[in-house]
Amino acid sequence: MTAPLTSRFPYAKGDDGARRLVYGADYNPEQWPREVWEEDVRLMREAGVNVVSLAIFSWARLQPAANQWDFSWLDEVMDLLHAGGIGVDLATATASPPPWLTTAHPEILPVTATGETVWPGARQHWRPTSPVFRTHALRLVREMATRYADHPALVAWHINNELGCHNIYDYSDDAARAFRDWLHHRYTTLDGLNRAWGTDFWSQRYSDWEQVLPPRLAASHPNPTQQLDFKRFSSDALKDHLLAERALLRELTPDVPLTTNFMVMSGIKGMNYADWADTVDFVANDHYVAPGPQDRDELSFSANLTSGIAGRRPWFLMEHSTSAVNWQAVNLAKQSGELARDALLHVAHGADAVCFFQWRQSAAGAEKYHSAMVPHAGADSELFRDVMSLGHTLRALAPIAGAERESAQVAVLFDWDSWWTSEHDSHPTSRLDYRREALDWYSALFRLGVRADIVPAHRTDLSSYDVVIAPVLHVVPQQLAKELTRFTEGGGHLVTTYFSGIVDENDHIWLGGYPGALRDLLGVRIEEFGPLADGAVVDLDNATTGSLWTDRMSVTSPDVEILARYRSGPYAARPAITRSTTGLGSATYVSTRLGVDGLAVLLPTLLAPAGVTSELPEGARGLVEPVVRCDADSRYLFLVNRSDEHVRLSDLTGDVLLGPVSDGALVLPPRQVAVLRQSAGEPARPSADEAP
Ligand code: GAL
Repeated sequence: MTAPLTSRFPYAKGDDGARRLVYGADYNPEQWPREVWEEDVRLMREAGVNVVSLAIFSWARLQPAANQWDFSWLDEVMDLLHAGGIGVDLATATASPPPWLTTAHPEILPVTATGETVWPGARQHWRPTSPVFRTHALRLVREMATRYADHPALVAWHINNELGCHNIYDYSDDAARAFRDWLHHRYTTLDGLNRAWGTDFWSQRYSDWEQVLPPRLAASHPNPTQQLDFKRFSSDALKDHLLAERALLRELTPDVPLTTNFMVMSGIKGMNYADWADTVDFVANDHYVAPGPQDRDELSFSANLTSGIAGRRPWFLMEHSTSAVNWQAVNLAKQSGELARDALLHVAHGADAVCFFQWRQSAAGAEKYHSAMVPHAGADSELFRDVMSLGHTLRALAPIAGAERESAQVAVLFDWDSWWTSEHDSHPTSRLDYRREALDWYSALFRLGVRADIVPAHRTDLSSYDVVIAPVLHVVPQQLAKELTRFTEGGGHLVTTYFSGIVDENDHIWLGGYPGALRDLLGVRIEEFGPLADGAVVDLDNATTGSLWTDRMSVTSPDVEILARYRSGPYAARPAITRSTTGLGSATYVSTRLGVDGLAVLLPTLLAPAGVTSELPEGARGLVEPVVRCDADSRYLFLVNRSDEHVRLSDLTGDVLLGPVSDGALVLPPRQVAVLRQSAGEPARPSADEAP
């Protein structure tokens, strides 16, 4: 079930009660002489900025020594911003401990799996479980909260920053102690732990809690359940830090909403955000595009998942980039139109705030080549003109603030336990990429013009969906298997893939033939996995090609239809894709990696029984992404041109909030967005196509 949150979303209404979207950035005035601050506020007003995140990396300035504080500069900045009508999402400033603290207390520094100390010199060099760090961090939070509790610029608290970006896994003695406590709480007894971890394997049986350690560098593969629990623990340890800061803020400023910026994006795996969502008053996310063939699919996927984590309520895009970042191998600048288009794709998926890292591009430091709203070239630049133009667009879209994301008929299930576990070492293949498989399904749906929700498992009521796609749902506790069975019995159509339903919550195999937990539901039995060598492919008789994985599979139920067989490979002539009819619904199993092309061929067959059809005319599919937000009176249809082509759409209904729509027709230029407001209940589907 989705949980209640964002009850205290701070921005949907301005002081005058009118709806508005937030526009802003991380603001780091301490990097600049004070003369620049006034210009900053003036330019922010010109751009339409109404909220900035402040003091994220200011600890060393605010507390120059253990018993010395300097808030004067921050007071001044807060006052200046307030005078300019700009609200502040004020950081608790605990993200990067200052040199005096790490010198006095080197025991707060994280330790890697190989026993090396993570030294200061960058940022986030602190152990989530260090009691010493916690004491110092909370002291700072107390000072900040006491000082700024009643400051009129304060609109929200920004706890720490991107918790776990660099310090998710710490193997120190503090971590070992906290890990033991966590395990004790989970298993109660050492016997329980020994059972769950299967410690009779390789003589790992523990006879005293003190013997239990994080999975530090070992002679061979560390115990897999130890690895999984360490991942769960590490996510919880950071959440615990978040809760500790939160408790203090709640005590001192009970009416100020608080958040922390999640990182739902490619490459970030350690934090189970579905499990963190209820700790914040509104979900905030940072997202950076990872260039590649599916880069905007990935942007959309991440924004969509963020919305799923937020229970489809509005969320806050806390950071993204105006153009290039500085931390990829090659840092591509955004093409014309991409700055606004990417921002609006987040808005389409429920963001009520569009913020960037950062306001003014740094002149020094590790991020001086990272783009910003005001580039090195200054405000007389194309980039700043784009920034101003986006501010203008967001004002035009103000009526959308507060609207939820409309649910789709199709859900793609996302599960952190399965992600972590399916990619462990000592498995049939080390090439499995959980997020990539999920993204491929999403890309294929986009190509067909079918909207889908990315929803976190264990947190989402599936019953409202017609189709649930669960790629690599590897960890299936009994409860989840029952839920999925109920879903299909109630008429839902479940689709799952290779390496799903294999283990329980302790990473123990469900015995008797794979996929144990889903065997009856799918009506198939697998005796052996057939992972494929790098570059090897197998043909299927539905004109698709598989890679990565195959299964030695037999059908065990008369209710199973074979949708495709292998034509080549180790299991030629055996079933490759099956569909079991159960009650009113069905359960499909796809035993190989089909990739986006293959999935786009297969999906119509899977969607048809559920009555799911394309939202777009043929000529717009795979080019334009339709997304809908809605409130009590209106539906807001976003049409986001993700391509470099002109796309023509017609039969559009509703008032035009954005885009060159006239008489219900639209030629959407490359990388542009149109938004229509329709009355609730009005059909969202445009028709006709033909490129001009
Ligand atoms: C985020 C971080 C920002 C900045 C940005 C650069 O991870 O929160 O402080 O470093 O990335 O892309």
